[in-house]
Amino acid sequence: MARISQRTGASATAMLGLGVYRPARLVTNDEICEVLDSNDEWIQTRSGIRTRRFAGEDESLLDMATHAARAALEVSGIGAEQISTVILATSTHAQHTPAAAPIVADRLGSRAAAFDVSAGCAGFCHALSVASDLVRGGNAGYALVIGVEKLSTFMDPTDRGTAFIFADGAGAVVVGPAEDAGIGPVAWGSDGSQSHVITQQPTCQHNSAEHPMVVQMEGTAVFRWAPFAMADVARESIEGAGLTIDDLDAFVPHQANLRITETLARNLKLPEGIAIARDVQDSGNTSAASVPLAIEAMVRQGQAKAGDTALLIAFGAGLSFASQVVTLPPVAGL
Ligand SMILES: CC(C)(COP(=O)(O)OP(=O)(O)OC[C@H]1O[C@@H](n2cnc3c(N)ncnc32)[C@H](O)[C@@H]1OP(=O)(O)O)[C@@H](O)C(=O)NCCC(=O)NCCS
Repeated sequence: MARISQRTGASATAMLGLGVYRPARLVTNDEICEVLDSNDEWIQTRSGIRTRRFAGEDESLLDMATHAARAALEVSGIGAEQISTVILATSTHAQHTPAAAPIVADRLGSRAAAFDVSAGCAGFCHALSVASDLVRGGNAGYALVIGVEKLSTFMDPTDRGTAFIFADGAGAVVVGPAEDAGIGPVAWGSDGSQSHVITQQPTCQHNSAEHPMVVQMEGTAVFRWAPFAMADVARESIEGAGLTIDDLDAFVPHQANLRITETLARNLKLPEGIAIARDVQDSGNTSAASVPLAIEAMVRQGQAKAGDTALLIAFGAGLSFASQVVTLPPVAGL
């Protein structure tokens, strides 16, 4: 039998830099309620959301991903030609084929291996873990991870269960070798018995032929599941990193809904003084983009800084979930 060689890579990895893209157009609850049978007070009370951003015609999913990726590369000091793998997490790229990642890689001037990850709102944390293991395993020198969504084109604006929640944006990080480990072991899994809870369905009359699917969600089922099941997953990732909850500086959960974040934080019994990401209030739920966008918002607003230890956890359609403890990276433009 021929003896096959295997690679070994970096002994430790970290996020080297983070970039984001927030679409220009700010959308208030009042604007949402021009079409949706709801009101600002109900939306803020039930979800915490005050505003969100919707991409314009000139801000495609590929454009947003490319902007965020360029910013991440620049702040990391890594050239596109040094990237061996591009992993793009999304549920709103309009086609299964071709995937978005190779197109974004090409726009960046890269011929890296490039593929999309479909893990709903948990996509970024899945992709981050895969990227870290690729670098540790030696199959990638540097990897680029992108979470991007254009959910505004995948929504029925009259659906009371989704129209006020979802939004658009992109975030990206470069993962590479590091002296000290900055990405802890992942705690992840799925519960496909609940796959019906968040789905994409053929369109209603409000969407054009260009966007034939809309998101549908059993919001109450998500609410019953996430704040409780995810507390155990978060504890597993803290333990996997060899830390305790007292070692954390920041908590960055997927920005699903402020009530889910607050309930999860309470269930985790986070010590006082830990900064909690609440970007959902300004940005809505941007699914696979929400974790990097929330990190950027926390650093920009001075609630956290590069070098802080943060617990990430993301969860959503699948139902899929992933969590890891990380060291926050430098953020582009700050
Ligand atoms: C979507 C969500 C806000 C709905 O809140 P809820 O408390 O479960 O609401 P319900 O569907 O039980 O409806 C409660 C009441 O509000 C009304 N209502 C529902 N949607 C409404 C809306 N958009 N505006 C105004 N009223 C609304 C209902 O008609 C109902 O009225 P009633 O009590 O008179 O019958 C909530 O379930 C939620 O946040 N779930 C998690 C969703 C999420 O974040 N998903 C992210 C996936 S990653």
